[in-house]
Amino acid sequence: MIYRAIIPAAGYGIRNLPVTKSIPKEMFPIGGRPTIEYIVEEAILAGITEILIILSRNKNEIMNYFDRSIELECFLTARGKEHLIPTITPPKVSIQYTRQHEALGLGHAVLMGKSFAGNEPFAVLLPDQVSLQRKSMLIPLIKTYDTYSTNVIGLQHVEPALLKNYGVVAAQRLKNRVFDIESIVEKPKKDPPSNLAIMGRYVLRPEVFEVLKDIAPGQGGEIQLTDALSELCSTSGMLGYAYKERWYDTSIEQDYLKIQKQAYLMKLHNKH
Ligand code: UTP
Repeated sequence: MIYRAIIPAAGYGIRNLPVTKSIPKEMFPIGGRPTIEYIVEEAILAGITEILIILSRNKNEIMNYFDRSIELECFLTARGKEHLIPTITPPKVSIQYTRQHEALGLGHAVLMGKSFAGNEPFAVLLPDQVSLQRKSMLIPLIKTYDTYSTNVIGLQHVEPALLKNYGVVAAQRLKNRVFDIESIVEKPKKDPPSNLAIMGRYVLRPEVFEVLKDIAPGQGGEIQLTDALSELCSTSGMLGYAYKERWYDTSIEQDYLKIQKQAYLMKLHNKH
């Protein structure tokens, strides 16, 4: 049973400057709601009851968003607009926050959750990877963990020309969508080992913290989660679950436009 999740949201969002100088990319709106709200909902739908969001100094808007706003509730009540109150009510889940003082990399951000996770397996959800499914995309990863009791990461089939942007796995199919991962190549310039790329969903065993603690800075001088996962492939084992659903990366402008359109169409459809 996995009931804790870490959402790392402390990066600078360099690809989306200048807006990310003051607006965290996790707060970019999709269908009128911030991206991170979809991620929190996805976690809740999968049975997560405790969430840790990793923040940095300029990300207080995220904390404010998930807090109650009594004055706004009073204002809406006074104006006869109580029906809007549920839309501003915080989600029913425990959310804690911790600050990563320096953006030393995704691996380092996950390491900040060591005492939160304790000695239990936990989920990691990257808030810039979104899939507007009505079901939680974390569920198949948790089910795979429940069956095999080992680390599981989300995978997506990516067209060959784009593989150079991802962590790509060498893997053998175990069963249906489940793959046994032998190794991971980060952003392969040529000869990718497959067309299966790592997506931003993970269920990890606490051993990952021991590896992260000692990992040296890798690509871009950052402590990379992928480097720790690579090491785990040959020690505790690593499975992948290959999604067939479409994912969107809100850091990529084209993807962000597409997800906006999809959310708008879904909203329109729900109205009829
Ligand atoms: P990204 O690789 O997308 O980094 O991190 P980023 O800073 O958000 O964006 P770019 O690459 O500079 O444009 C994936 C996730 O990991 C978090 C980010 O906030 C994002 O949600 N992250 C990254 C951290 O929490 N801390 C870090 O040091 C790095």
